[in-house]
Amino acid sequence: MKMIPKIVQAGKNLAIIDIKDISKIYRMGDIEVRALDGVSLEISDHEFICVMGASGSGKSTLMNIIGCLDRPSSGSYFLGGKDVSKLTDQELAEVRNRQIGFVFQTFNLLPRISARRNVELPLIYSGYSAKERRKLADEALERVELSDRADHKPNELSGGQRQRVAIARALVNNPSILFADEPTGNLDSRTGLNIMALFQRLHNQGSTIVMVTHEMDIALHGKRIIHLRDGRIHGDEKVKSRADAELILNSLADLSTQDLEEAMQRHTPAKGAADEDS
Ligand SMILES: Nc1ncnc2c1ncn2[C@@H]1O[C@H](COP(=O)(O)OP(=O)(O)O)[C@@H](O)[C@H]1O
Ligand SMILES: [Mg+2]
Repeated sequence: MKMIPKIVQAGKNLAIIDIKDISKIYRMGDIEVRALDGVSLEISDHEFICVMGASGSGKSTLMNIIGCLDRPSSGSYFLGGKDVSKLTDQELAEVRNRQIGFVFQTFNLLPRISARRNVELPLIYSGYSAKERRKLADEALERVELSDRADHKPNELSGGQRQRVAIARALVNNPSILFADEPTGNLDSRTGLNIMALFQRLHNQGSTIVMVTHEMDIALHGKRIIHLRDGRIHGDEKVKSRADAELILNSLADLSTQDLEEAMQRHTPAKGAADEDS
């Protein structure tokens, strides 16, 4: 029988990420750069949230703090109810390995080893046997529909396939949150849409996704958009008409890649909002 918790906070939606009044100051000699300036943010379990903002607005700094790669200068950060703002490097690394999967613009795969071994890497420190690692890696590759490329090295794969290997690597530890910093930045429109279709599928299966992008048509695949400007949040909106990547891909299936690029550019809504996101 399942244990019933003693205290039930009725009607309270658990924030998996709860940031209060976070600032980050970089000091370079006499110069201070306030990269984040009093940011507060709650992200619930099972959200799909996009962070937008111009270059230098603090997106990566915020991602690095939320992703436990760095600490704030001040303010508090609770991840899954645990205060992580004052952990040591070692403790932070453990939280990161257990709870968070990262996807980067440049894929960050090791070039000399197979897709499967790339996906196995985060498991090396988790005490799994080689056989268990292989099984988990193959399951993750199946989730991104790349089982037939498991033995290929990164340079034998297309850009979209490489990004899917990176996503499998991010998923292999079964993290609470998937973080993606400009995941489609190095991909053409169709391949980017394929990656968005994969993110939407993972989200439907229960993943919490936090994604940085400066492209409005990519951000519209999420459910909520945070706008950063000069290290502060100046907008937090629910996405009203969400883009369905699978649907778009199907309806544009007969277009050439070039026609698709043009159609996407003409289709990008909210030009005013997109302008500041250079
Ligand atoms: N390690 C660092 N040292 C000094 N300044 C930094 C460092 N990282 C970022 N900054 C500064 O902090 C601000 C925010 O940077 P960043 O978070 O990378 O923005 P974004 O990802 O939105 O382009 C910028 O002014 C940047 O120059
Ligand atoms: Mg950045």
